[in-house]
Amino acid sequence: MIKKTLDERAFHLLKEKMDEGLLPQWVLTDPDIYDLEIEKIYGHSWQFLGHETEIKDPGSYVTRWMVNDPVLLVRTREGEIKAFLNSCTHRGTQLCTADRGNKKTFTCPYHGWSYNLNGELVGIVAGNKVYGEEMDKSEWGLRPIPQVEMYQGMIFGNLDKNAEPLEDYLGEMKWYLDILLGRSGGMEVRGLPQRWVAKANWKATAENFAADPYHVQTTHRSTVEMGISPEDPLYAGYGHQVVMKNAHGINVITSKTGKARVPFQGMPESMWPLFEKHLTPEQLEVQSKVTVFVGGVYPNLSFVSPIHGTEGHLHNYLNFRMWRPLGPDKVEVWCWFLIDKAAPEEYKEATYRGYLGSFGPSGTLEQDDTETWARIVEVSKGLMMRDKELNYNSVSNYLMGYSHVEPDENFPGPGTAYPTTYIDALSRRMHEQWLELISKGLFKEEVKQ
Ligand code: FES
Ligand SMILES: [Fe+2]
Repeated sequence: MIKKTLDERAFHLLKEKMDEGLLPQWVLTDPDIYDLEIEKIYGHSWQFLGHETEIKDPGSYVTRWMVNDPVLLVRTREGEIKAFLNSCTHRGTQLCTADRGNKKTFTCPYHGWSYNLNGELVGIVAGNKVYGEEMDKSEWGLRPIPQVEMYQGMIFGNLDKNAEPLEDYLGEMKWYLDILLGRSGGMEVRGLPQRWVAKANWKATAENFAADPYHVQTTHRSTVEMGISPEDPLYAGYGHQVVMKNAHGINVITSKTGKARVPFQGMPESMWPLFEKHLTPEQLEVQSKVTVFVGGVYPNLSFVSPIHGTEGHLHNYLNFRMWRPLGPDKVEVWCWFLIDKAAPEEYKEATYRGYLGSFGPSGTLEQDDTETWARIVEVSKGLMMRDKELNYNSVSNYLMGYSHVEPDENFPGPGTAYPTTYIDALSRRMHEQWLELISKGLFKEEVKQ
């Protein structure tokens, strides 16, 4: 059933507005739109579940969510990675309630049915007496997540068994993930992912993080005042914004001169030969000049790989974050810290402390952003918002002193690379993808880009 705000006419109006670079603000908080997003986007997209180093040993597991679907992610005795719906097949309660651990079997807290690491039902309390010989346990195993695949140690799940393979879905983004995750031979997760609930719409958080370096010089002004970031208001705009298939994207932020502020983001010199070994010359060129990589895998995974600290104590880490929608105005943020396995131990520890001071609930940068997101949803529910639009038209117009922005054909990486990150190219692509996906199959003629 098409609800009142989602009829064909409304969609074509949305499409018309978005072609002009305008996004109606009400789509950030509308409950009908939200329901459609969960079904049409999250029912068919690859969603991030975790990193392989979180479940290193046989029997290790973590519990995760794919929006409202609870997931039990396990490493089997044979070393395979499997994911099941974390709900008992008997009466449906949540089977495993811990965040992580190591087990041979999972026993349900309700009536005690137990399942092995392959999801098979292996034990029923007083089974013979209660159910007799006819009970066929093989019919009552845990329900597997339809697709689970991994790229560079990152594990993703998909609720649609017919969805395109993960590697096809990631496409050109793999080239950049190879730099972020494969530059020294592999990353590891440190600690548990931090998580907290923010008052925000998932589209706004994903776009803020992946596509909007323009906010950095204002929202995070305190970092300039503390001397961590440069005074130059364009400092986060130097470099390239790269837009890719399926609305994935990355900002490769460099510096005013286009050269590295420090080589290899301040990583210890002992690691540089590893970068040369694992990266292609083109990837190495990008990696050697970058200050910050920040971007996202559509729909709700974002990442940042910054330079952090003060001169003489600079370091780099990788932060992955997943925006789990909990409603049109609520997001559960999941935040992982990753560091090169090959990095010296004391460097890992110092970097972890730096990360905790910047991102996550105790991080200064995080708190700046959280305030803004909350205020967006706070003000987006009013009657006057029904015909108010947000501006996403820096692609087709003149922008902040830049002349008309054309893609840079000489950028060494794949995707459409614009020679600035203060641009709405990726934001706009994300919103176009959003409209295309939520309208899929609703009308005879789909809203296509
Ligand atoms: S609900 Fe799990 S054993 Fe009954
Ligand atoms: Fe921010």
